[in-house]
Amino acid sequence: MDKLVIEGGKRLCGSVRVQSAKNSVLPLLAASVLTEKKVTIREVPAISDVACMAEILRGLGARVTFTEGDAVIESEGATSHVIPSRLTRELRSSVFMLGSLLARFHRAACAYPGGCDIGLRPIDLHLNALKRLGVHIVEREGYIFCECQHMQGAEIVLDFPSVGATENVMLAAVKAEGRTVLGGAAKEPEIVDLQNFLNAMGAKVRGAGTDVIEIEGVERLSGAEYLPMKDRIEAGSYLIACAVCGGEAEVLGVKGETLALLLHKLRENGCKIHTKNDKIRIASTGKLRCNRRIETMPFPGFPTDLQAQMTALNAGAEGGALVVENLFETRFKYVPELQKMGADIEVRGRTAFVRGVGRLHEASLVCGDLRGGAALVLAALGAEGTSEVTELIHVDRGYADLEGKLRALGARIKRVRM
Ligand code: EPZ
Repeated sequence: MDKLVIEGGKRLCGSVRVQSAKNSVLPLLAASVLTEKKVTIREVPAISDVACMAEILRGLGARVTFTEGDAVIESEGATSHVIPSRLTRELRSSVFMLGSLLARFHRAACAYPGGCDIGLRPIDLHLNALKRLGVHIVEREGYIFCECQHMQGAEIVLDFPSVGATENVMLAAVKAEGRTVLGGAAKEPEIVDLQNFLNAMGAKVRGAGTDVIEIEGVERLSGAEYLPMKDRIEAGSYLIACAVCGGEAEVLGVKGETLALLLHKLRENGCKIHTKNDKIRIASTGKLRCNRRIETMPFPGFPTDLQAQMTALNAGAEGGALVVENLFETRFKYVPELQKMGADIEVRGRTAFVRGVGRLHEASLVCGDLRGGAALVLAALGAEGTSEVTELIHVDRGYADLEGKLRALGARIKRVRM
């Protein structure tokens, strides 16, 4: 078991290159079983969610090798269509494997993913959309069994722009007969990345990034080599770290427009932000004003995956802020940990009432989920004194070499074996 030991109060300066996007690489790995040909996904991040998805693919019979940071998937030997329950529980987002397994094998089965620390996370939108494509679904003893001998394109409308459900439909429909039109689709940049990858394999998908995606079914897909987009949530996390600590930094690899709302909020806090191509520069005095209101929404709204990090920033700023979490029911579980650091936050349902205390102080902190854990690290970086952060398994799911990248920016942070 490891812990991070963080000496707060160091300004951050320099540049950091972000990893390929976790939330793009995962659906791309799922898409790789749509073809029996070799697929290479370049520069995949060394994070445990990617390792878990690779284990799922191997469990299906595919060969997955990592060479110099690239993932090479050869799935001509894949014969199984069942995702083991242990892995579905470990990686909830593996549910979008249903779409690619149905397209490949006309059958798919996985354990019901169930809730997690940030919310119930139902999959009704996924299953209703698959049924529109002709998929027969039986839910029995905690498992979901899907079967469809002949996938037929259809008109589908999502009641809510679910990222995973949008991806599941794209994966299931690329080899369906005829045309599928998906309305109410999620517009996240990761959806556009999946479209580009599928089209590189010979699929006919268009409209990603808007709320209507059209998929023309094709007979078969070829292999592909693909460099995923960079991780805008990782980038945002480092921008917030610099805002909290004070200093001047640049984050390389992410376009400003994929983080427009965050940049707008950081300017409200008093940071200077400059964007050019895929470079974002930030300058901060470290003495920040609270945002009056932050409300998470589907893209292009404020990203829920940066909510915890911005709440931590506001907790140590001056003034007051309302943080409203509209996407997940229980995404404030990290707040008691911030309160150990002197944060003055009251959570009522989906709203956190934050009264900025100017600066937090050290504490022993325990991560409970991926982005809440990142928020604790950022809070410790800006706090007085030396904090410890444990249960790093959560942050290691989504941040490759977190302490190395922060140390390169001047943070006093080290990972210690307990
Ligand atoms: C993706 O999760 C991301 N994960 C999440 O990032 C991200 O927070 C989320 O999108 C929203 O942007 C990956 O891409 C691997 P949703 P997903 O389906 O697809 C409800 C991180 O920290 N819903 O858009 O699971 C759901 O309960 C992770 O990197 C239904 O009601 O998110 C939630 O309230 C966390 N029924 C809302 O929609 C469904 O069938 C958004 O969920 C599906 C979803």
